[in-house]
Amino acid sequence: MTQTLINSRDMALRERASKVVPNGVWGHMATRAIGPGYPQFFAKSEGCRVWDVDGNEYIDFMCAWGPNILGYKQPDVDRAAIEQIGIGDIGNGPSERMVELAETLVDTIEYADWALFQKNGTDATTTCVTVARAATGKRKILIARGAYHGAVPWCSPSLIGVTAEDRTHLVLFDYNDIASLDEAVAQAGDDMAAIMMTAYRHDVNRDQEMPDEAFLRHARAVCDRTGAALILDDVRAGFRLDLRGSWARHGVKPDLGAYSKSIANGWPLAAVAGSRSMMEGASKIFVTGSFWYGSAAMAASLKTIEILRTTDALAHIEAMGQRFRDGLAEIAARHGYELSQTGPVQMPMVRFVGDQDLAIANSFCSAALRHGIYMHPRHNMFLCAAHQPADIDHALEAADAAMKETARTAR
Ligand SMILES: Cc1ncc(COP(=O)(O)O)c(C=O)c1O
Repeated sequence: MTQTLINSRDMALRERASKVVPNGVWGHMATRAIGPGYPQFFAKSEGCRVWDVDGNEYIDFMCAWGPNILGYKQPDVDRAAIEQIGIGDIGNGPSERMVELAETLVDTIEYADWALFQKNGTDATTTCVTVARAATGKRKILIARGAYHGAVPWCSPSLIGVTAEDRTHLVLFDYNDIASLDEAVAQAGDDMAAIMMTAYRHDVNRDQEMPDEAFLRHARAVCDRTGAALILDDVRAGFRLDLRGSWARHGVKPDLGAYSKSIANGWPLAAVAGSRSMMEGASKIFVTGSFWYGSAAMAASLKTIEILRTTDALAHIEAMGQRFRDGLAEIAARHGYELSQTGPVQMPMVRFVGDQDLAIANSFCSAALRHGIYMHPRHNMFLCAAHQPADIDHALEAADAAMKETARTAR
């Protein structure tokens, strides 16, 4: 399978978009930032596959950057959402679905005594910060250097259009580094509202790192001692690793958790889940949004959670991730490359050892694309429950061909 963007529908759309949309496409989905050959516009998606506007089909390892956990167009989830649209989606207040979903999250997430709903991960992380400040009466928020928590001024990775004042109360530390966290805690003094961390270290363009349990326990103890809130930003990893919350397996409970991406299998929804101690703070703040109370995405989330709870979907995703990781390691070794494959197999980060300028990764991912698999050269990827062994094996054949081509040009 090969494709070229020259004279393509994709190019024509880019041309049109460049006239009426800033930068043509903005943000993390702007493919000019990835590499040559990546299509920008997509026509459809189903299961673990996506089709670009020129009709090229790909086995997808980005899963819409996370939301696709059960498979695109999962029929039961989409039916639940569409049935709800038939009844009523947005109105002058939420429907019964909101209460059901809050009850379901409280029943599912081990530290949650309450939940509220929004639309994007940034809504949820920002609300966690607001709740923590309301609950503690303090201002400083400790976050790990290089972590992504969203795209508004207090946390955006870009400083363009952002003022120093927007970041005044952020204090940085290094993930998994107790001494560095202690320094940040000392810097915050008696004004510390929260420590916020992602489920594990999944920063762009570097090896992923699971949380060190001693580090997590230390952060918990600091929060217990000072009264600050421990916030788990589970926007990217939430539900894919563990329905109870991504730190459940590490035995550490946060006070607040931010969710979005996969909680409604692609229907737009975010949630903040919190412990009893944060409920009063959460009751005092004012946060809202025109579309936050819509019932269709909530119905989709209820069905998504039901499926995740009653099937082996999560174990299956993990098995497929392991199959992909083992296969890639074997192929790379055969072609004389050493791969660094880090983080959970469900959310793999694949890097070529020694590939400082990403020349090998870019060449490999572009070749993989021509052979029908959509991978990312410097961001963690995602697997979903629709990936079947045959899809993984097919993808590995494509990866083998791509690695063979890369070996001729990039070392
Ligand atoms: C860990 C984490 N937090 C927050 C966000 C922001 O979510 P959204 O893009 O839905 O606003 C993301 C998005 O990728 C994320 O990965």
